Amino acid sequence: MKLDQYGNEIGWIPEIGTSGDIPLYQALVQAIQDDINKGILMRGYKMPPQRVLANQLGINHGTVTRAYKICEEKGLVKGIVGKGTFIAASPGLPISLLTDHKDTDLISLGMAIPLYECNPFIETLIKQVLDSMDYGLTMTYCPPEGHIKHRYVAANWLIKYKMKVEAENIIITSGTQNALSIILMTLFEKGDRIVVDEYTYTGLISLAAYMKVILVPVFGDEEGMDIEELKSTCKREQPKGIYIMSDYQNPTTVTLSVERRKALAKVIEDNNLLLMEDATFSFSLEKKIKPISAYVPQQSLFIMGTSKAISPAFRISYIAAPSSLVEKLSHGLNNIIWMASPYTSEIVSLLQSTGLYERIEEVKIQILKVRNKRFDEIMTGYHVLPAPTSCYRFIQLPGSYDDVELEYLALEKGVQILSANRFYVGSKPEKPTIRLAVSAPNTLEELETALNIIKELLDNYRKRKSFYPVL
Ligand SMILES: Cc1ncc(COP(=O)(O)O)c(C=O)c1O
Repeated sequence: MKLDQYGNEIGWIPEIGTSGDIPLYQALVQAIQDDINKGILMRGYKMPPQRVLANQLGINHGTVTRAYKICEEKGLVKGIVGKGTFIAASPGLPISLLTDHKDTDLISLGMAIPLYECNPFIETLIKQVLDSMDYGLTMTYCPPEGHIKHRYVAANWLIKYKMKVEAENIIITSGTQNALSIILMTLFEKGDRIVVDEYTYTGLISLAAYMKVILVPVFGDEEGMDIEELKSTCKREQPKGIYIMSDYQNPTTVTLSVERRKALAKVIEDNNLLLMEDATFSFSLEKKIKPISAYVPQQSLFIMGTSKAISPAFRISYIAAPSSLVEKLSHGLNNIIWMASPYTSEIVSLLQSTGLYERIEEVKIQILKVRNKRFDEIMTGYHVLPAPTSCYRFIQLPGSYDDVELEYLALEKGVQILSANRFYVGSKPEKPTIRLAVSAPNTLEELETALNIIKELLDNYRKRKSFYPVL
């Protein structure tokens, strides 16, 4: 290992252009980005301290600080208080991996596409309710939190998910990502901390980075977040909130037991946390379990959306909030989107009040059951949590595997998968893991084809030594 004149170890020195066309800090950002793309800087790599790099390059300390800050905003690096700056878990991976490739021959096991094969069936149900639409109501502005009629129907419908809430406590948003944005913008400030599972929803990770809200990972086991670890994290980090997916956690598929829910509720109460419980995938759980929010209704925001349960086209999400927060959230919603579309809200409301919503859910659960059974048959021999009706599955691989490399190798074979690195909060996950969305392929046959390709890839996998140049 090379040492600088002060005895600091130098593991990496960027080559920054000296043409003077762009400011030095931008050139340094570019150099970091380039070295990530080339595989020279790997995820989890500890970047040189700013002072050391500044000395090495003969540039100002402030220039390096500025460049690191921009890299952090771009999601390329991650600063961990007291530990340093690390290359982020999934830097530089093409965002196109997350897009819908239905116009190509690629089979997607990537994004959790909610069973498009159900769309023709959903279409017939939508046609049934269109005649009952209250156009007078839906073609005008409404209060930011939504029409009371829609909130009332939603409150009744939420009972099915074991969530008891008054209509006045429901706020209608344009999807769960929108609900989370409203919550973070309204109730959190820059520098506030939110506790999350070590693997969590990518949309929250990027939103928190955007809002400069700090996500604090808490380790867990195959039953979810560890209670003792959570308690000590609360003591150490003084978080303001906690974000949990109690049913089919994305990406791990863990469904919290009743005992774990109660224990989490107790910690939430004791530490005065605000719970954000994301129930996006609760629809696919065959036997519904009482959410944590039902134990701590005064400290929770239960968020349930329709884009996976029905279709992204009818994208509504309900926040069940305590009375103390309804006004603040409605005000925030008003500032951000004014209101969710009353037209979409009316369609969803009609599906809920006529029982058609449940029929869609039942059909999806049955399809997911068949798809997951095939998954279990094909993926024998790998460490996968049981998740009989989940939209995706989480595979923990032996340490000799490289999950990011597997993403690329799978793409080469025409299948899109996700390295669970993308969901990781922290510098580098301990084990390689991948998430395969069983709900994404258009048909069962397509799913089987894709799974067989992945099974063969995993069975015959040898880490390519040349994939990442050794530092
Ligand atoms: C856990 C989780 N929450 C929220 C969302 C986004 O939902 P919506 O489409 O309602 O914004 C997703 C999308 O995949 C998700 O996985």
